[in-house]
Amino acid sequence: MIEIADVTVKFGGVVALDNVTLEIADDVVGLIGPNGAGKTTLVNAFSGFVRQAGGRISVHGTSLSDLAPHERARWGLARSFQKVQIVPDLSVADHLLAMLDSKGLSRAQCKEAVHHALDFVGIQNISSKMGRSLNPYQRRMTEIAKCLVGAPRLILLDEPGGGLSQAEMQHLRRVIRGIHPEYGAQILLVDHDVDLIRDVCASTAVLDFGKLIAFGNTNAVLEDEVVKTAYLGR
Ligand SMILES: Nc1ncnc2c1ncn2[C@@H]1O[C@H](COP(=O)(O)OP(=O)(O)OP(=O)(O)O)[C@@H](O)[C@H]1O
Ligand SMILES: [Mg+2]
Repeated sequence: MIEIADVTVKFGGVVALDNVTLEIADDVVGLIGPNGAGKTTLVNAFSGFVRQAGGRISVHGTSLSDLAPHERARWGLARSFQKVQIVPDLSVADHLLAMLDSKGLSRAQCKEAVHHALDFVGIQNISSKMGRSLNPYQRRMTEIAKCLVGAPRLILLDEPGGGLSQAEMQHLRRVIRGIHPEYGAQILLVDHDVDLIRDVCASTAVLDFGKLIAFGNTNAVLEDEVVKTAYLGR
């Protein structure tokens, strides 16, 4: 259970999140809204990358707001970035190994976890390829595998479908659908692709100008007139 209570984030005069309150029980939840609505800012509030002017975020009874960013990661919070974070001089496997630094695993356990995550997203064949030579699809998949490798409890995916072709989106869809059954992690999925959201998210939240304007069953939310006007119609 994710509890977001009265979360406010301001950047100077811009209120990026305005008293957002939301309780999420579903395993896979969508987060949509127009550009600048505050989606990435909410992901950043979860990971502790922005200062909250107020409010609190708790997951499974743990108040993330009381933890430093690295403690949130150790707790089991994983996220992908809208702009993928790939190091040119690091191999794909080393990107994943770096996520396990603080986990206290043996070498064999690390190797096994990396193998499993790469296999799960379907890029085991490029495990030794360097960051600099990855294509956009391989970057996205590496980014997702990084989220999976460290026994995640909550995964925040910020537009993982950005820049992917239709065929690649199909694969991404299957991967995202498989995460909860395989890893048991809850997933918050930010994306502009309504078909992807409809397909994988039981419930969906909608932000507009930092305010939560709708939340509930995904199909009902996507049919909501307020949502259509704010988002889909634009
Ligand atoms: N570091 C920052 N400094 C100043 N303003 C910011 C910062 N980050 C975000 N903002 C502003 O906060 C608002 C919300 O931005 P955010 O990136 O969360 O939107 P978003 O919903 O993720 O949009 P997109 O769909 O384009 O990714 C916008 O007005 C944005 O300009
Ligand atoms: Mg964003």
